[in-house]
Amino acid sequence: MVMTLDKDTPDTQETTAPALKGYLAGKTGVIFGVAHKSSIAWGIAKALSDAGMRLAFTYQGERLEKNVRQLADTLENSMVLPCDVTKDEELDAVFHAVEAEFGKLDTLVHSVAFAKREDLTGGFSATSRDGFKLALDISAYSLVPMANAAKELMTDGGSIITMTYLGGVKVIPNYNVMGIAKSALEMNVRYLASELGESGIRVNGISAGPIRTLASSAVGGILDMIHHVEAVAPLKRTVTQTEVGNTAAFLCSDLSSGITGQIIYCDAGYEIMGMTGTK
Ligand SMILES: NC(=O)c1ccc[n+]([C@@H]2O[C@H](COP(=O)([O-])OP(=O)(O)OC[C@H]3O[C@@H](n4cnc5c(N)ncnc54)[C@H](O)[C@@H]3O)[C@@H](O)[C@H]2O)c1
Repeated sequence: MVMTLDKDTPDTQETTAPALKGYLAGKTGVIFGVAHKSSIAWGIAKALSDAGMRLAFTYQGERLEKNVRQLADTLENSMVLPCDVTKDEELDAVFHAVEAEFGKLDTLVHSVAFAKREDLTGGFSATSRDGFKLALDISAYSLVPMANAAKELMTDGGSIITMTYLGGVKVIPNYNVMGIAKSALEMNVRYLASELGESGIRVNGISAGPIRTLASSAVGGILDMIHHVEAVAPLKRTVTQTEVGNTAAFLCSDLSSGITGQIIYCDAGYEIMGMTGTK
């Protein structure tokens, strides 16, 4: 089946949890990873904005600038900056601009991943050295320099959130090198949480169930994955961008003040199930 993200992604999904409205007023955040209205990062942005947070967005290259500006313009007082996360100077420029505009930072959202299409299908053992390096650099390493820069601006403590997937802990067909990258990313979460905790900065990952997005459409058989989750997960469905956004808003707020270094599953319960191939 062909993915029709534009048609199938409603402009307005169900709304942010009412309890979070205004809960993050006066806070600031920077979000890496909005490409399209289907992006999980956009679901997170809407939840954080509804909760009152002022946001900066980054876009990867001119191709995506218009999309990201159009989305960001729907939120009050947001700012938009270019950033390819493989370029240290572009990362530095983002945090300088955020410091100049916001003064301090409360939240960093890392929702960025990439692997070559040929490395997301077929046999994992065929992964090239270049493909491995690229996937790990963009999808895992990039969190490290972001956290290093963000910590200087999180003068009142803060919350760092990244997006991960079950394929980082269990073998999922076709996820291949991205599974290795998610595994590294999840260890990044733990090492960063351990280091930054004494500065009052919490670091957590959200492991989301499969959602149709630009990135997930590159993984071979994504629709089959979604249908499998709908059949097997305790809630008999997969999750929405909005549900992931609400989880992120919780992780940015003092409602989660005792939680750091964790991977929180927002996956309709799929992760707890065994014998998923049987009826
Ligand atoms: N969609 C899912 O089913 C699912 C499930 C669990 C986790 N995730 C994770 O959620 C995150 C967001 O993915 P998504 O599904 O929303 O797809 P998406 O395509 O909307 O987002 C991926 C983002 O990564 C950005 N990116 C890629 N290479 C980059 C680079 N070099 N520099 C800067 N940005 C770059 C893209 O521009 C895009 O904004 C990813 O980490 C993904 O692995 C997705």
